[in-house]
Amino acid sequence: MDRREFLKISAVVAAAPAATACAGPDVFHDENVTMSPFNEDSTAEDVTAGMDLSGKVAVVTGSNSGIGYETMRVLALRGALVVGTGRTLAKAQEACATVQGLTMPVALELSSFDSVVACAESIRALNVPVDMLICNAGVRGVELEIVNGAERDFAINHLGHFLLVNRLLDKLYEAKQGRVVVVSSRAAYGSAPPEGIQFDNLDGSHGFDTSSAYAHSKLANALFSRELAKRLSSTRITSNALHPGVIKTNIARDSSTLLNIGFSLYAGFSGKNAAEGAATTCYVATDPALATVSGRFFEDCNAVRIGGRNHMEDDEQAARLWDVSEELTRPYLATFVKPEISTDS
Ligand SMILES: NC(=O)c1ccc[n+]([C@@H]2O[C@H](COP(=O)([O-])OP(=O)(O)OC[C@H]3O[C@@H](n4cnc5c(N)ncnc54)[C@H](OP(=O)(O)O)[C@@H]3O)[C@@H](O)[C@H]2O)c1
Repeated sequence: MDRREFLKISAVVAAAPAATACAGPDVFHDENVTMSPFNEDSTAEDVTAGMDLSGKVAVVTGSNSGIGYETMRVLALRGALVVGTGRTLAKAQEACATVQGLTMPVALELSSFDSVVACAESIRALNVPVDMLICNAGVRGVELEIVNGAERDFAINHLGHFLLVNRLLDKLYEAKQGRVVVVSSRAAYGSAPPEGIQFDNLDGSHGFDTSSAYAHSKLANALFSRELAKRLSSTRITSNALHPGVIKTNIARDSSTLLNIGFSLYAGFSGKNAAEGAATTCYVATDPALATVSGRFFEDCNAVRIGGRNHMEDDEQAARLWDVSEELTRPYLATFVKPEISTDS
């Protein structure tokens, strides 16, 4: 590596916290939720220690890589049947085959609504309740691409999961206490557009920037989870979103080599490993203390609120995002009659 390359990489490393939105707004404990005994050093195995999840069914999207793989591994280790999705059946099968416990590989390509529906149908064919639906898969694109009428990151990270949750909602109702867990990011408040969801630019045609597009999709993840919690408030199903930490995974795979190196170095030195990166997901998906906690945002295994100007609790945008998402997925949406289930039965 020559001096010029070294200087370029140093600059990218220095910029990496901004790219992953690590600096910035105040993050403080959400006083509506009891503090957990876990923190940023806890691992997925720590937060599920002693748990017996046998008889439970978890769906983990993007289970062949990074945080999703570790989430699947630990939930299966604790006895759950984990439906692990991959963009192809072969990828899902390969991942599931390396995990101890009960797993079922299913193909899910979130950019294809047909694939989302087919994935949901495969899960429905199991004829069992879904206890945990973990919307983990994610992409960080580099170029503007329009997918299903929207910018690609938004279409994959948000719309694909919006539809998947819709198609499995009745299976979550059937569970003793269904949980939807949406893996968002700090980027949702650290680097999303200042106006929040860009309703007049959902396809990116009025301006596109890689970091901002990813952050925009992650804000959509957080607002979707919040609105879902509101809509399910009379049921036993909860919905929460989270930031997993900064973890050296494949998430920056499509970025430039320089950004990729910068991200890897930054995440490698100051971030979490995969075991720690899956802890908040596993905590939110399983901890008995969270049975009635819904509509919250978690970091480092605790519910947090974010200070400063951001749209994390913007209920108006959350409701509008729901309507727009319905419009964009309309022909594929299932319409379920909500079963009469009381919150305490
Ligand atoms: N790593 C971090 O620092 C960080 C920070 C904040 C939030 N997150 C979030 O954490 C989640 C997991 O990411 P990760 O860090 O574990 O990254 P990762 O290793 O790249 O895993 C992402 C997973 O999503 C899948 N995926 C990508 N595009 C998809 C599509 N079109 N349809 C279906 N699945 C698709 C990937 O499949 P392939 O392997 O086939 O591409 C992979 O299984 C993401 O939502 C990400 O935004 C990560």
